[in-house]
Amino acid sequence: MRLNKKRILAINGSTRTNSTNLNLIKAFIGLTINDLEVEIFNELAQIPHFNPDLDNTSAPKEVTDLRKKIKDADGVLICTPEYAMGVPGALKNAIDWTVSSAEFSHKPVALITASSIGEKAHASLIETLKIIEANITNDTQLLISFAKTKINTNSVITDNETSEQVKKLITSFIKIIK
Ligand SMILES: Cc1cc2nc3c(=O)[nH]c(=O)nc-3n(C[C@H](O)[C@H](O)[C@H](O)COP(=O)(O)O)c2cc1C
Repeated sequence: MRLNKKRILAINGSTRTNSTNLNLIKAFIGLTINDLEVEIFNELAQIPHFNPDLDNTSAPKEVTDLRKKIKDADGVLICTPEYAMGVPGALKNAIDWTVSSAEFSHKPVALITASSIGEKAHASLIETLKIIEANITNDTQLLISFAKTKINTNSVITDNETSEQVKKLITSFIKIIK
């Protein structure tokens, strides 16, 4: 075990019990076990609806807890599906709570959209992450279409090309964290 592992918050954009994106996060953990300490955030469903009136001093506890987790992390991994050609509402909602409090500002971020297709959500999230000043690069973002055929329920990436792409993303992510 390596000392001083960097701490990553891994946010699952899906609220589904048997989520492919959760399996992907677990695969990521297996691939980074020597370098990163990963905390999974799988509670997007608990985050109240964004309300600018409550944005600052009176933000709900679930929100202040999430903000602290992002702030304290050395980097954030977001794995998400696409819904109805867009970003899942629960994920966008959580990100909206961080706009004025700026936890993502300069934060190293890796984004993997793992979905049936996923192109629109992926592009939209990149725009959102850029406007909130996240440190995301071309090499720390990856779109995995037909994800259910490439990541199995044992959290193994079964598709060789996808496995190589995820490993490349990890190398780039670790570089921008350090
Ligand atoms: C209501 C709904 C809408 C969806 N719309 C899209 C879509 O627009 N594009 C897409 O790629 N996948 C779409 N999907 C498929 C999911 O993104 C896909 O099943 C994904 O693997 C789910 O991720 P998860 O297994 O982590 O929950 C949709 C699924 C649901 C339930």
